[in-house]
Amino acid sequence: MIDKIKEHIAEVENFTAESKEAIEAFRIKYLGKKGLLNDFFVAFKNVPNDQKKVFGQSINQLKLAATEKVSELKESLESKTEDTGKYGDLTRPGEAMALGARHPISIVKNQIIDIFSRIGFNVSEGPEIEDDWHNFTALNLPEYHPARDMQDTFFIQTDPDILLRTHTSSVQVRYMENNKPPIRTISPGRVYRNEAISARSHCFFHQVEGLYIDKDVSFADLKQTLQFFTTELFGKSKIRLRPSYFPFTEPSAEVDVYWGLETETDYKMTKGTGWLEIMGCGMVDPNVLENCNIDSKEYSGFAFGMGIDRIALLLHQISDIRLLSENDVRFLEQFKSTL
Ligand code: DAH
Repeated sequence: MIDKIKEHIAEVENFTAESKEAIEAFRIKYLGKKGLLNDFFVAFKNVPNDQKKVFGQSINQLKLAATEKVSELKESLESKTEDTGKYGDLTRPGEAMALGARHPISIVKNQIIDIFSRIGFNVSEGPEIEDDWHNFTALNLPEYHPARDMQDTFFIQTDPDILLRTHTSSVQVRYMENNKPPIRTISPGRVYRNEAISARSHCFFHQVEGLYIDKDVSFADLKQTLQFFTTELFGKSKIRLRPSYFPFTEPSAEVDVYWGLETETDYKMTKGTGWLEIMGCGMVDPNVLENCNIDSKEYSGFAFGMGIDRIALLLHQISDIRLLSENDVRFLEQFKSTL
């Protein structure tokens, strides 16, 4: 019997286990209620008295060895779990990646592109750093023309001929220089003006320019196109054109859309008139066509220009234009659901 116990002691000392379950099985085998140690203690009762001392010592040795082994194995297992603890629970489900949201300017720009693409307009682009010719002179705004003051321009200091474009009308010049009529194009892009920054105006903003050149294009075509556009974008089909002045169009007009006066917000937005101004437009001035090598006797056309930021503010009831360029995630996240 003593030999048996000695064998067990050796077995206990050599035992290793790496899992909780294996350690627990080992504990039950030796130290459990019905474990081996219990068996030995039962057997101990029948051991002749003169052998009890040696026998008892061996059992105690086995008990001690098994107890120590269990706590030693448990400790080493715990320290291992702590090591991998820095990775956390590797089996837990991953965190969903936060998806970005489209910027309200992009949302509105894409809506505008989508509407005009349905009636045959393509998209064109031009540079933000522009020369005097494309931004002013070709658009019937020669040097010293008072209308140049309408737009406070950022010039490149070392070269007064180079500037940050003040409107996307510069792109219509480039497009006409490089393409033959019929032309149907819209040009979205960023523009710059030396204006004080406030809730209502910024030194950079975004515009969409529209240009349609073909034979026999009339003011009625312009009106129809704008009415289609406002119906699609705002769901409002009532528009009015107020006579206005732009050097590059003749006649020129400003377009108002009838927003309505149903709610208090309508009152505020329209200053109690029900009307909202949304863009400038007109028939392309023959001088502009000629500047771009298009025969103004053969061709005519219309152009229009609108501010994307302003429309985004209107559509999404945003009260401060500066929010559009501050990149505050709390603001931007609100557009997640709008694609
Ligand atoms: N370029 C004008 C602006 O920035 C907007 C504009 C008005 C564009 C009339 C046009 C137009 O093409 O016909 O205020």
